[in-house]
Amino acid sequence: MSEKAVSAALLEVRGLTVYHGQLRALDNIDLAVATGETYAIIGANGAGKSTLLRTIVGLHEPKSGHVVLDGRDITREAPDRRLAAGVALVPEGRRLFPSLTVEENLLVGMHKARPGTFDMKRVSELFPWIPDRRKQRASQLSGGEQQAVAICRALLANPRVLLLDELSLGLAPIVVRRIYEVLPALVAEGLTILLVEQDVAQARQIASQVHCLLEGRTSLTGRPDEVTAEQIEEAYFGVGALPVSASAADPGG
Ligand SMILES: Nc1ncnc2c1ncn2[C@@H]1O[C@H](COP(=O)(O)OP(=O)(O)O)[C@@H](O)[C@H]1O
Ligand SMILES: [Mg+2]
Repeated sequence: MSEKAVSAALLEVRGLTVYHGQLRALDNIDLAVATGETYAIIGANGAGKSTLLRTIVGLHEPKSGHVVLDGRDITREAPDRRLAAGVALVPEGRRLFPSLTVEENLLVGMHKARPGTFDMKRVSELFPWIPDRRKQRASQLSGGEQQAVAICRALLANPRVLLLDELSLGLAPIVVRRIYEVLPALVAEGLTILLVEQDVAQARQIASQVHCLLEGRTSLTGRPDEVTAEQIEEAYFGVGALPVSASAADPGG
């Protein structure tokens, strides 16, 4: 049973440990994202969430551990090769080229694109205002519009796994809702999603699996319906954040 689940994983992280200088930002992280799944990484500021996504796409080199895509170890591959293999990141803070137009930013995504269903026409269906605004500079867009363009840029590479780093950062709730509304359509087209979210309610709503990081370590994993709000709060903020009844394996100190 569990063996089958492991072999069905499209993206796996095994024993990943990453340092930034002396700081151990990730400590022996394991995760497995099944094909077609939406998997959420949650955790407080500085927990290591972005480091995890950035290491998966090859922007940080792990001290140990592996990143495996569809059974193939990509740990030592360059970022552009990982993109070509089907792993695309929408980075925290959007990171568009501000002086380039919407269209030019999107064309960046098509460089090294894999064949697939996402082209300019298809992404314009997801965000119908895009064709009208294609000649505008990215810097003239609102935060939510920039986020939409950043998502489309990643989609145009036709990834198998889409990594989303804090889509809601700095956006109004209504804007966040509109952005999140497109994700089910992407999953319906066969995409697998690994997302980072500080908003636990949002993560629980969209994901089939939540994985909490606390100071670089896994503090909780489970399906949203099998973990309680209290367990999440403890995993998110650490032991001692709340009076806790469940399995408080205090590491000491
Ligand atoms: N490039 C970097 N150089 C040095 N320290 C970093 C770097 N990126 C992140 N860190 C540190 O690593 C830890 C985890 O950061 P990060 O992965 O950005 O967390 P999160 O995304 O969960 O907020 C933090 O303590 C942060 O200050
Ligand atoms: Mg981050």
